[in-house]
Amino acid sequence: MAFALITGASKGIGKNIAEELAKRKTDVLLVARSQNLLQQLCNTLQQQYGIKAFYFVADLSQANAPQQILSWCQTNNYAVNILVNNAGYGLSGLFEKYSEADHVNMLQVNVVSLVQLTSLFLPLLKKQPSPSYILNIASSAAYQAVPYLAVYSASKSFVLSFSRALHYELKKTNISVTCVCPGPTDTDFPQRANIGEKGKKAAEKFNMKPEDVAAIAVQKMFGKKTEVITGFANKLGAALAWLAPKGIAEKTAASIYE
Ligand SMILES: NC(=O)c1ccc[n+]([C@@H]2O[C@H](COP(=O)([O-])OP(=O)(O)OC[C@H]3O[C@@H](n4cnc5c(N)ncnc54)[C@H](OP(=O)(O)O)[C@@H]3O)[C@@H](O)[C@H]2O)c1
Repeated sequence: MAFALITGASKGIGKNIAEELAKRKTDVLLVARSQNLLQQLCNTLQQQYGIKAFYFVADLSQANAPQQILSWCQTNNYAVNILVNNAGYGLSGLFEKYSEADHVNMLQVNVVSLVQLTSLFLPLLKKQPSPSYILNIASSAAYQAVPYLAVYSASKSFVLSFSRALHYELKKTNISVTCVCPGPTDTDFPQRANIGEKGKKAAEKFNMKPEDVAAIAVQKMFGKKTEVITGFANKLGAALAWLAPKGIAEKTAASIYE
């Protein structure tokens, strides 16, 4: 049986995607930096759902991590038919507040490692006798420029654009690519992103549960959807961002994250 490989599976949306797949009797390979959390999740999923679950500790801000993940799969003969590129984080505040290394590390995790893993695993997914899936997690921030989340929102625009193009290119193959754009979701994301009180309060009004986001993501992935915005409020937000003059959409977003 082939596995689902999930990055950022130690907590939040990725952990819930792993659980959602385990419920469907899919064996899982979990990747993140937090060894203890990955170990605990493997044990829980094996016991609760009777599936196979293995983990690999990797820091995706390191350029060689995707190759190490591929080598781990090959050494252990883990076939993969689902790749979930979920690991990611934001950095809020003035662009100048962060160092060059801070920005580059975030882009490596959110963008470069996602492309590397997709490139490295695509030939393996193609070899699978059954349908294969790539699930990329972007964000509602992909739909506009977000001042004070400048690099993060641009990184998620990349993920959305890349995913859509790849979905098209792979139409005639056994691989379907789905990009899911969650809005505010109740995870550790705001803490790591250093989101201020105003931003946290605004998010609280619309927060979705990570288990609900994960359930939608997995259902739409198996439904071979190209692009999914989770929840009505986030769909409306994306539509308004598209309709409104860019300057107004940016001013509104800036007032939240300033
Ligand atoms: N929560 C939201 O409001 C929200 C909204 C839109 C989009 N998203 C997106 O959803 C995805 C999941 O985020 P989340 O909300 O679930 O946040 P989270 O709870 O902070 O989880 C982030 C996951 O990414 C992993 N990760 C972070 N840096 C990593 C690195 N350098 N190497 C390997 N793994 C790394 C973390 O594991 P370790 O710390 O163990 O490495 C963790 O498993 C992200 O792509 C995020 O941009 C979140």
